[in-house]
Amino acid sequence: MASDQIVDQVQSLNDIVEVISAYVPLRRAGRSFKATCPFHQEKTPSFMVNPDKQIFHCFGCGVGGDVFSFLMKYERMTFPEALKRLAERVHVPVPEFKHSSPEERSQTERLYQVYSAANEFYRRNLKDLELGKPARAYLAKRSFGESEMDIFHLGFAIPEWSHLYEFLSKKGFGEQELLRSGLIVRSAQARTYDLFRGRVMFPIFNSQGKVIAFGGRVFGDETPKYLNSPETPIFRKRKELYALHLAKRAIPTTGEARRILIVEGYLDCIRLHANGFQNAVATLGTSLTPEHVQMLKRYADEATVIFDGDKAGEQASLRGLDLFLEEGMGVRVLCLPKGFDPDDMVRVKGKEAMAELIGQSQDFFDFKLQVLLGRYNKSDSLGLLKITSEFLDTFSKIKSPVLVDRYLRKLAVTLGVQENSLRSELNKLRAKLSGLKSARSEPRPLAAELRKAEPPLEKLLLGLVLHYPPYLRMFQEVFPEYSFSGEKTREIFNLCHQMIQEYGERELSPSKLLNRIKNEESKTFACRLLMIEWSSGTDREQAFQDVLRGLRGQERAGRLKTLRHQIVQAEEAGNQELVLKYMKTYQELLSKSDSH
Ligand code: CTP
Ligand code: MN
Repeated sequence: MASDQIVDQVQSLNDIVEVISAYVPLRRAGRSFKATCPFHQEKTPSFMVNPDKQIFHCFGCGVGGDVFSFLMKYERMTFPEALKRLAERVHVPVPEFKHSSPEERSQTERLYQVYSAANEFYRRNLKDLELGKPARAYLAKRSFGESEMDIFHLGFAIPEWSHLYEFLSKKGFGEQELLRSGLIVRSAQARTYDLFRGRVMFPIFNSQGKVIAFGGRVFGDETPKYLNSPETPIFRKRKELYALHLAKRAIPTTGEARRILIVEGYLDCIRLHANGFQNAVATLGTSLTPEHVQMLKRYADEATVIFDGDKAGEQASLRGLDLFLEEGMGVRVLCLPKGFDPDDMVRVKGKEAMAELIGQSQDFFDFKLQVLLGRYNKSDSLGLLKITSEFLDTFSKIKSPVLVDRYLRKLAVTLGVQENSLRSELNKLRAKLSGLKSARSEPRPLAAELRKAEPPLEKLLLGLVLHYPPYLRMFQEVFPEYSFSGEKTREIFNLCHQMIQEYGERELSPSKLLNRIKNEESKTFACRLLMIEWSSGTDREQAFQDVLRGLRGQERAGRLKTLRHQIVQAEEAGNQELVLKYMKTYQELLSKSDSH
């Protein structure tokens, strides 16, 4: 169990600016640093890193947090993983720690170990002069050499029943954990044997380069041609992409060429890497999922999806393409000539030919149009309706209005219909969709919406407190009974109060605070306030005095208003005595006002 102390220590040794700049190029902006946000697409930088408070925040999309949150978001790590990574970075030993049970933790850890050991084992088989012969011959026949074997850790499962099982048992792995890994299976007759036999092995790595699964190919045409190890707690097919751990390093972090190539097969992907297309990944025998696209978006701005020439599968692929647009990522399509997959293409026609084809890849729109025109007849009205509705469906998901505009115009021209009628159809569809959406989310009456607005003075006060916690006490001395009308302001102010009781004024760090805020919206709100900069201590003090004066003024205005109301009521009731009393207070309040 990692104590708070270790967490604090790891955090203090890892400067957030240093850590983040390993992922995102940061430029100085005053005392802070800025960059274009790695978590959403943007042209002008609104992602800020504040070295004083050791936090980051994006004014565009609202993400923010401390150095741990950054890694958790960027690398999709859990907190313990982020802690471990940052501890390693500064050479601080961290005792095992996990918020899931220690048992689960060690099971996952053991799974990684089983896969890693199996990988070493298969690799050794392939390199073994005797044992590896047939597999090496197969790979050579398909023109894959040493370097591909090394880069992709290719291996070989020899055609025997318990080669791996015996090896792993000797290494000290228990039967239960081997069965859990799926690499060892048990028959109905309770016989235990290796899943992969007589196959070339393709280890599948997660984006951090750990082996999490295997694909295995037979040498001939037997079925199944490829066998994949099963899903486990460390392997979810719909989340992983083959070779992403390599491709992510090959894609530049900025600039024009943030493009990724997506192919269908392991060997296609390897062939591409071997020929200079190191930005290629492969799906793992599934179609693309939203998870894939979300992950890819972190590394690339545009994807080129490459389909084998002989695969019709366009129905499914169109769905996959929409996903990119929904996630705000550009997508192009390349359909290889009939009979070719990327591997064949590069091998037979050369990498230049492949590069040329990639250069000629179709924009998503043209591809979709071509598919739909092949499927429906645009000169009959039903066909026309089908085509338009499929397109409008897609357009309704595109976030960029500029892009929608361009596509609408193109579609109108191609189909020979009025652009305006397409646009009004699209608007109808959008209205319907947003109706559905808001009907699904909680109803939020206007009054509640208004109440959510945070009064500026309160907000500024909270900003000051976050910056310099002693202000909280100073404020409470002046306004012991103050009740915040801003909901989020109140929530966070109360949290500060509570944490100051726990830790003391000096120990309330921005990151501790952010970690205690559960609600994302409130967290964004707090981040925003934390990013405010005062040029100096006197400046800040000035702001604090201004806030006090402002709030006093507001308080007075509120009391004056109440008094006026009371005077009117007393007059209506004919209670002169009361009228006079209120008037007196009113006068007093008015004259006292300017003394402050
Ligand atoms: N695949 C699979 N199971 C199968 C067939 C295919 O999981 N029975 C997956 C594999 O990831 C494979 C990809 O789908 O790499 C593409 O399959 P296919 O085009 O049939 O194979 P190729 O990659 O062309 O492989 P090869 O060139 O070795 O035939
Ligand atoms: Mn192939």
